[in-house]
Amino acid sequence: TDVQVGIDKIDFYTPNHYLDLVDLAQARGVDPNKYLIGIGQSKMSVAALDQDIVAMGANAAEPMLTEADRQEIGLLVVATESGIDQSKAAALFVQDLLGLTNNLRAIEIKEACYGATAGLQLACDYVRSHPGRKALVIASDIARYGLDTPGEVTQGAGSVAMLVACDPGIIAIEPESLYESRSTGDFWRPNYSAEAFARGKFSEEVYVGMFEGLWNKARKQGMARPESLQALLFHIPFSKMGRKGLRTLGDGTITEADYERLTERFERSIVYGREVGNIYTGSVYLALISLLENDESLNPGDRIGLFSYGSGSVAELYFATLMPGYRARLEPQRHQALLESRERLSLTEYEAMFSAKLVTDGSEQEIKHSDCRDDAPHYLAGMKGHERQYR
Ligand code: CAA
Repeated sequence: TDVQVGIDKIDFYTPNHYLDLVDLAQARGVDPNKYLIGIGQSKMSVAALDQDIVAMGANAAEPMLTEADRQEIGLLVVATESGIDQSKAAALFVQDLLGLTNNLRAIEIKEACYGATAGLQLACDYVRSHPGRKALVIASDIARYGLDTPGEVTQGAGSVAMLVACDPGIIAIEPESLYESRSTGDFWRPNYSAEAFARGKFSEEVYVGMFEGLWNKARKQGMARPESLQALLFHIPFSKMGRKGLRTLGDGTITEADYERLTERFERSIVYGREVGNIYTGSVYLALISLLENDESLNPGDRIGLFSYGSGSVAELYFATLMPGYRARLEPQRHQALLESRERLSLTEYEAMFSAKLVTDGSEQEIKHSDCRDDAPHYLAGMKGHERQYR
């Protein structure tokens, strides 16, 4: 059918504390340029205990939903690799906090950083088969590798919320896309660990290899004519990673003019991510917001590509078109303010915040509300009898 489906609204949330990576470099005895240039990151958001993936996810979605949206949402997906429960979906807590109806499917999806793309494609299929209804997809994660580890500089915290609908206001997603799944041991987090394990260099190889494979396939099938692509977005665990993906096209694979245009747009897609850090499932969608809010030269009708990668590993390359009026749906000023209003942590404060833990013995714990900004009403208020208490 001709009906267009895609992202109608999009928003993000990140906690109100950050660590400056120059401070981290100094503390770890590393040249700051390794982080600023070698890794390509400037700051990372740090989540206090009250901003878990449920609270962050609800905070990301709250500002953009109208009462009509809330009535029409028939599918709610929370994609995360920082799950808070082995059984109950995080989406059920979010449904409650957002005041959605009970007439919906609420589920959680996991496949590392790829989960939100699985959710988004599921949402598009849902909307195509349920005209008149909408789907809400929330990507929410806290990236943790541990203090003084090679991955430490690539941590971060935040959520992206996307409302999927017919005749979308921001991007229409093409139904045909390319994907690949292949079991790899590049990155994982066993149930008993709060921190991820990674074979760092190997994970970079798998990422780049899967991108090249899908890109070449898309070229063969006529889906990725570079001259018709105005931007190519990448999963951004840290900006150098996306740059490495993009650079594979610079070896004469595409014309210089096409490569230059994609590189310019890539720079705008990493503006927000450089400040927030890795938010796993949400990273490629934060890159989308960053591109649309920091680029003056894109126009409705322009075609963009999105490369999603989740360790383990699943990757997908798909394409979308910017919709008329998309600029009016964006909120660059509010997002700028969200990033600028964050409090800078000293290294000691960061380490204390990183090490803070919820009780695990069923006792009662009260948690301090750390983010009192007006547009972030939701938080984890405490623990009671092994259950999280949200407000
Ligand atoms: N000035 C400029 N650059 C410098 C520098 C300096 N003074 N010193 C070092 N560098 C550069 C290095 O040359 C290197 O650049 P290239 O990668 O372009 O070669 C870069 O800084 C990183 O330095 P190292 O090679 O020494 O790497 P490291 O041991 O610090 O580890 C890492 C880097 C592997 C990314 C590590 O941070 C890590 O394991 N991160 C977590 C895993 C990860 O994010 N993997 C990405 C792919 S998997 C994925 O995408 C899913 C996901 O979200 C996790």
